[in-house]
Amino acid sequence: MKPTYPSNLRRIARPAATGPVAAVILGALLGASAQAQMYRPPSNLPGGVPAAATITSYSQTSSNATFCWYGMQGLYQVEASTNAVLGPWAPAGGVAVASDFAWCQTVPNPDPTNAYFFRLNQSNYYGSANSCGGCHSSKYSEWSFTAHATALNTLANIHQDSNPACLPCHTVGYGQPTGYTSRAATPHLTDVGCENCHGPAGWHIYSDKTLIRPAASIDPAICGGCHTGSHHPTY
Ligand code: HEC
Ligand code: HEC
Ligand code: HEC
Ligand code: HEC
Repeated sequence: MKPTYPSNLRRIARPAATGPVAAVILGALLGASAQAQMYRPPSNLPGGVPAAATITSYSQTSSNATFCWYGMQGLYQVEASTNAVLGPWAPAGGVAVASDFAWCQTVPNPDPTNAYFFRLNQSNYYGSANSCGGCHSSKYSEWSFTAHATALNTLANIHQDSNPACLPCHTVGYGQPTGYTSRAATPHLTDVGCENCHGPAGWHIYSDKTLIRPAASIDPAICGGCHTGSHHPTY
C-alpha cells in the first residue's frame, strides 16, 4: 500500500440532501450484488467507468455515522468539517480498504454537540495502458490493434483533438480527476485505454493486485456511454 497518493477525488455528503437519492441508488445496488457482484456503472456516462465514487447512503446515530458508496476498490478516507466551504477537513475514523465496489464505513461523530459535514476522500488515479502492459501483456497487444488505441489520432486527423466536446470519449478520463487534459500534460492518457472500461487503476497497480481489482464488467452501459447518440444511436 502507498498511503501517499495525491488526494484529489472529493465529494461532499450533505446528509439532508442525499436521503431520497441514496435510497434509489441503494435499491439498484442490492439488485446488482445479487448478480455475482459485477461492477455496474451508476449511469451511462461518456468516457466509460467514472473515476469518482457515488455515495449511496448515509445514516447517523448519536455516537457515529455510516457511509456507503459505490466505486473503484481501494483506499477511502471519510473526512469531517464544521464548514463545508472553508474546511478544514479532518479524518474521521480510519482508512477504509474497500475490496468490493459497494462498501460501507462507520466513523465516530467528531463531536456529538456540533453539526458536521462529511465527505469521502479517495486518492486513486489513472495509470496508463503502458503501465498495465507489463503484467497483462496479451490484453495489451489485443487492445493495441483495436480502433480504441488510436482514437485521439482520429480526432487529430480532422483537427478536433483539442475540442473539449470530443475528448471524453476519445481519451482516458477527460474532465475527471487525474484524467486527460492535453497531449503535453498527460501524454499517457491519449486514446481510449484500458481504464475507460476498467476504471482508474492506480490503486490496483500499487497495492495487493488480487485484493484491489479494477472493474471487469460486461455491463453494456460502459460501452453505451460512448457508443451512443449520433455516433452509434442503436448500441
Ligand atoms: C504488477 C502487475 C500488474 C499491473 C501493473 C496491473 N495489473 Fe491488473 N492484475 C494483476 C494481478 C496479479 C491480477 C489478479 C489476477 C487474478 O487473481 O486472477 C490482476 C487483475 C486485473 C483485472 C481482473 C479483475 C477481475 O476481477 O477479474 C483487471 C481488469 C486488471 N487487472 C486491469 C488492469 C489494468 C487496467 C492495469 C493498468 C492500469 C493493470 N491491471 C495493471 C497484476 C497487475
Ligand atoms: C471512452 C469511450 C468508449 C468506450 C467506453 C468504449 N468505446 Fe468503443 N470506441 C470508442 C471510440 C472513440 C471509437 C472510435 C475510435 C476511432 O475510430 O478512432 C471506438 C471504436 C470501437 C470499435 C471499432 C468500430 C469500428 O468502426 O472499427 C468497436 C468494435 C468498439 N469500439 C467496441 C466497444 C465495446 C464492445 C465497448 C465496451 C466493452 C466499447 N467499445 C467501449 C469509444 C469508446
Ligand atoms: C459520447 C462519446 C463520443 C463523443 C462525445 C465523440 N465521439 Fe467520436 N466516436 C465515438 C465512438 C463510440 C466512435 C466509434 C463509432 C463506431 O465506429 O461505431 C467514434 C468515432 C469517431 C470517428 C471515426 C468514425 C466516424 O464516424 O467517422 C470520428 C472522426 C469521430 N468520432 C469524431 C468525433 C468528433 C469530431 C467529436 C467531437 C465533435 C466526437 N467524435 C465526439 C464516441 C464519441
Ligand atoms: C472497450 C473496453 C475495454 C478496453 C479498452 C479494455 N478492456 Fe479489458 N476487459 C473488458 C471487458 C468487457 C472484460 C470482461 C470480459 C469478460 O468478463 O468476459 C475485460 C477483461 C479484462 C481482464 C480480466 C479477464 C481476463 O480475460 O483475463 C483483464 C486483466 C483486462 N481486461 C485487462 C485489460 C487491459 C490491460 C487493457 C488495456 C491494455 C484492457 N483490458 C482494455 C473491456 C475492455
